[in-house]
Amino acid sequence: MDRFVKGFIVMSIVYLAVSTVLGIAMVVSQEMNAFRFVHSHLNMLGWVSMMIFGVGYHILPRFVGRPLKHPLMGEIQFYVANVGLVGMLLFYTLNAYNPSDTHVALTAIFGAMEGLSIFMFIYNMLVTIVPKTEMPH
Ligand code: HEM
Ligand code: HEM
Repeated sequence: MDRFVKGFIVMSIVYLAVSTVLGIAMVVSQEMNAFRFVHSHLNMLGWVSMMIFGVGYHILPRFVGRPLKHPLMGEIQFYVANVGLVGMLLFYTLNAYNPSDTHVALTAIFGAMEGLSIFMFIYNMLVTIVPKTEMPH
């Protein structure tokens, strides 16, 4: 298993744990509803997407019998995705408590970073699995 595959799976499980605790806190306390965006994106981008990135990088190239086209890009995507997600959620929350243009701009920058990481996965996966497999004669 590649290092970044394991990284995605471990971080996905960490985000599941954090978002579950947050979700329960949101049920218990109305004030915690300010964390709905954090909870939903920890779940959708953290738990769900990162588990799919990790499992997808490992399994999808094997389905077509070819290695991942750009493994270094997968490694870089791991860091871009995690920094993007944590940065976006941190500055979104800071902006909710202390609104400022700087917080909005930083939320957007880290959000764009998260978007970039998603497109790195899309590109790497498509160039790996779309080309036709050579049939042995
Ligand atoms: C123990 C587990 C969980 C608890 C206690 C919990 C609790 C909550 C609460 C209280 C809200 C706010 C609802 C509202 O404001 O109306 C919420 C929203 C949300 N949760 Fe969870 N949740 C849990 C697990 C999950 C999981 C596993 C996922 C996804 C894989 C998820 C995805 C979402 C999403 C996307 C929203 C936003 C929905 C919207 O605003 O339309 N949650 N959750
Ligand atoms: C680069 C990635 C993403 C960015 C920058 C982003 C950004 C946002 C923003 C700005 C909102 C509105 C929040 C508000 O009302 O204050 C939102 C809501 C929402 N997004 Fe995303 N999103 C991303 C990815 C995703 C993905 C991949 C999913 C699901 C698979 C998702 C599910 C949702 C849901 C369910 C809501 C409504 C619930 C909520 O307000 O938390 N998002 N998103």
